[in-house]
Amino acid sequence: RPGAHRWVPDDADVDTLGAAAPACRGCELWSPATQVVFSTGPDDADVVLVGEQPGDREDREGEPFVGPAGRVLAEALEAAGIESGTVYVTNAVKHFRFTERGTRRLHKKPDVAHVRACLPWLEAEISAVRPRVVVATGATAARAVLGRPVRIGELRGRLLDPGDGLRVARDVENVVVTTHPSALLRLRDRTDREQKFGELVDDLRTVSEAVR
Ligand code: URA
Ligand code: SF4
Repeated sequence: RPGAHRWVPDDADVDTLGAAAPACRGCELWSPATQVVFSTGPDDADVVLVGEQPGDREDREGEPFVGPAGRVLAEALEAAGIESGTVYVTNAVKHFRFTERGTRRLHKKPDVAHVRACLPWLEAEISAVRPRVVVATGATAARAVLGRPVRIGELRGRLLDPGDGLRVARDVENVVVTTHPSALLRLRDRTDREQKFGELVDDLRTVSEAVR
């Protein structure tokens, strides 16, 4: 069957998974990308935070959330009283999807098929880390984690039951869905941006209280 399964080692720890990921050919996204972007953070974290996919900077540096969205995320975590170094940070899709516009590489949202193909990595990571809470930032991550289409506006900030989205969710106490940090970077109006940032911080505070 299509997808990452055959490249994901069984019962592996995070280091082993990260070492196996560059070989993945589970979908076509590996080819134009510079490199796989796996994860960062402690492999025994209480909180796993899932983004959408690496961006341009992440693709070049090989680390998640090191670009503009990462700056927003770091600020929001700090405002919520969560030390960013305590969170295991990963993405639903591990390769950067983009279209070329001249010399620029523009982010392109992954398809449902890419998310599905890449899911074995995320499941293996959650099995290895065994977090108490999984935070999904944005609709793509939420769909990957909950296994169904999600409207962020309707579900954000609640302590959700992991349900049957992830096969490996048995030890996860809660899933929290929140706004993607990039969503706020796209807002021109400062008041809108501040409001969205406040929502992100509120949701992360709920996470912080849940794992206290
Ligand atoms: N956006 C994401 O979803 N993930 C990253 O790693 C960077 C930006
Ligand atoms: Fe494999 Fe995921 Fe990269 Fe596709 S995006 S090649 S499934 S690691």
